[in-house]
Amino acid sequence: MRTNIVAGNWKMNTTVEEGVKLVSEIVEKSKDLSNVKLIVAPPFTHIFSVGEKIRGTATGLSAQNCASEAKGAFTGEVSSEMLASLNVEYVIIGHSERREYYKESDEILLKKIKLALASGISPIFCAGENLAEREANRHFEVVKKQIEEVVFKINETDFEKIIIAYEPVWAIGTGKTATAEQAQEIHAYIRKVLSAKFGEKAENTSILYGGSCKPGNAKEIFSKPDVDGGLIGGASLNADEFIAIAKSF
Ligand code: PGA
Repeated sequence: MRTNIVAGNWKMNTTVEEGVKLVSEIVEKSKDLSNVKLIVAPPFTHIFSVGEKIRGTATGLSAQNCASEAKGAFTGEVSSEMLASLNVEYVIIGHSERREYYKESDEILLKKIKLALASGISPIFCAGENLAEREANRHFEVVKKQIEEVVFKINETDFEKIIIAYEPVWAIGTGKTATAEQAQEIHAYIRKVLSAKFGEKAENTSILYGGSCKPGNAKEIFSKPDVDGGLIGGASLNADEFIAIAKSF
């Protein structure tokens, strides 16, 4: 059985104090949630304090990134081992903002994924096409290649720990969402691509939708059989909206 997941990607938002307040509200308001796993991904600077607030609760702790090297002279980087030492359980890898603004290549993403897995951290691997690719009807091919270049290069046991997030770049932070039908179409395709390599294990992979997911559209998107939840940016910064999205299951 695959798990329904709603993960909040806070991006570069909130001070530590604001982040602690936000997560406290999320914990308080999510007490009666049972059919969905909540995950929060605060900035690195908040991980310790946010981790303290969610310790012993059902909410999972994610980082937004990790280094592509294990340790050493890499000023400003944060390794997967460091994150594991703060009880981080998940890490977002390959977000389109990292691919675009920080030029993270498939090779770098593969190194990050392998290091995260070696540290016992589950990657939330993001894939998705940009507007020009969607308009040229190339979205299937683009997403397939992103998955082949990274996810296909890990072993079957590690594959079981991966969460996929389909995030069409044209929908991120734009207020435009994929329709529920568009989401289902490509999620089913992603599962087919994964099952060609990993067989039945792909049935258990949670595939999340990301891109302007809000309380008003989550129910319809999550009702689709191959949509197992969401990776939420903007709406995850408000506890009521984030919980309303989670309650859409
Ligand atoms: P958004 O971001 O919900 O603000 O569109 C989603 C994401 O980038 O993960």
